[in-house]
Amino acid sequence: MKVGDRHYRSIWRDAQTGAVEIIDQRWLPHEFNCVQLDALQDFATAIRDMWVRGAPLIGATAAYGVACQMARDPSDAALGDAFDTLHATRPTAINLRWALEDMRALLSRQPESKRAEAAFARADQIADEDVETNRLIGLHGLEIVREIAATKAPGEAVNILTHCNAGWLATVDWGTATSPMYHAHAAGIPIHVWVDETRPRNQGAQLTAWEMVGAGIPHHLIVDNAGGHLMQHGLVDLVITGTDRTTASGDVCNKIGTYLKALAAHDNGVPFYVALPSSTIDWQVHDGVAEIPIEERSGREVTHVFGRGEDGRTQFVQISPDGTPGGNPAFDVTPARLVTGLITERGVARPSRDGLLELFPERRNAG
Ligand code: MRU
Repeated sequence: MKVGDRHYRSIWRDAQTGAVEIIDQRWLPHEFNCVQLDALQDFATAIRDMWVRGAPLIGATAAYGVACQMARDPSDAALGDAFDTLHATRPTAINLRWALEDMRALLSRQPESKRAEAAFARADQIADEDVETNRLIGLHGLEIVREIAATKAPGEAVNILTHCNAGWLATVDWGTATSPMYHAHAAGIPIHVWVDETRPRNQGAQLTAWEMVGAGIPHHLIVDNAGGHLMQHGLVDLVITGTDRTTASGDVCNKIGTYLKALAAHDNGVPFYVALPSSTIDWQVHDGVAEIPIEERSGREVTHVFGRGEDGRTQFVQISPDGTPGGNPAFDVTPARLVTGLITERGVARPSRDGLLELFPERRNAG
C-alpha cells in the first residue's frame, strides 16, 4: 500500500542488493522506520518482539529468515537450526509452521550448492502469493459488502467493525480483513470502519487506524468494550476479523477479544466473517479451544501503554500501581458456531469441516 508517494509491502528485497527489509512496526504510527534483516537471529528477534507481526507476515518473514541462513551456511545442520529457532518465536499463528515446513521440504531435496538460490526464490514466491491471495479474499469479501450496501439508502455507509490489525501490515500486502474494505472503497461503496483499539498492544489504534488514514477510508477508533453497545444500536452491519489459526472444523483463533465480539454479534444478529488465506488453516486441529496453543505475552504489555506525549516524544507509560502483575493471553478462540463465513482466496466457506472441504477438496484425507 502507499505510504507517502511510495508503494510499500510490509517485507521486500532491495532491488539492488537483494537484502531483506521490513517496516519496523513497533513505532507506528509515530515513527516510520525500515530495517534490514540479515542474520537468523535478526529474523527471530523481529518476529518474537513483534517488529513484524500478523500471521501471514510472520510466515513470509520466517521464509526469508531461512533463505538468509542458507546464504551463510547451507548445511543440513543450519537448516535444522533455522527451523527450530524461528519456530520457537511465536506459538499461535500457524503460518509460521506452514512456511517453515514448506521451506524445509523444498530445501532438503536440494544439494547444498543450490539451497540459497532456491530458498530466496521460494521466499519471494510465498510473499508474492500472499499478495495475490489477499487480493482475491478482498474480491470475495467485496460481494458481502456489496449485498449489505444494496439494503441501504443511497449514500448511506456500510458500518464494518474490525478487531486487531488484519491489514496490509499483517500480511505482505492488502491485508485479509481490510482487503474487502479497500476493494469496497475503490468501488465507490460508502463504508465506515469501527476500529477496535485492541489492548494490550493496541494494534487497532496504532496500525489499523494508520492504514485507514492512509487509504482515506472513513473510520473511528473505539475502545474494545464499545462493540456490543454499537451492535445493540444497529450501528454495525458487519464484523470482519483475521485469524492466526483456523481449525479444520472452522473454529478461529485470533487476537484476544475477538470471541467477545463474536458473542455480541451473535446476540445482535450481526454477520461475523473471518478473512483468511488457506495457509492459516491447521488441518490437523479440530477443537480450537482445546488444541490451539495460546501465546502468553509479557504482563508489561498490560501494565504499560505506548504513545506519543505532548512534547512529541514516544514513550511507554505505566498505568497500574507498582506491584500489580499483568496477565496477558494474546489470543482467544471463537467457535465455528459463532462465525457466519470464512472468506478465503477460493470463496466464502461455511465454517465447518464440510464447508472448508467444499473449497479445498484436496485436503479431504488430511489430518
Ligand atoms: O499479535 P499479532 O499482532 O501478531 O496478532 C495479529 C492478529 O491477531 C491478526 O488478526 C491475525 O494475525 C490475522 S492477520 C491477517
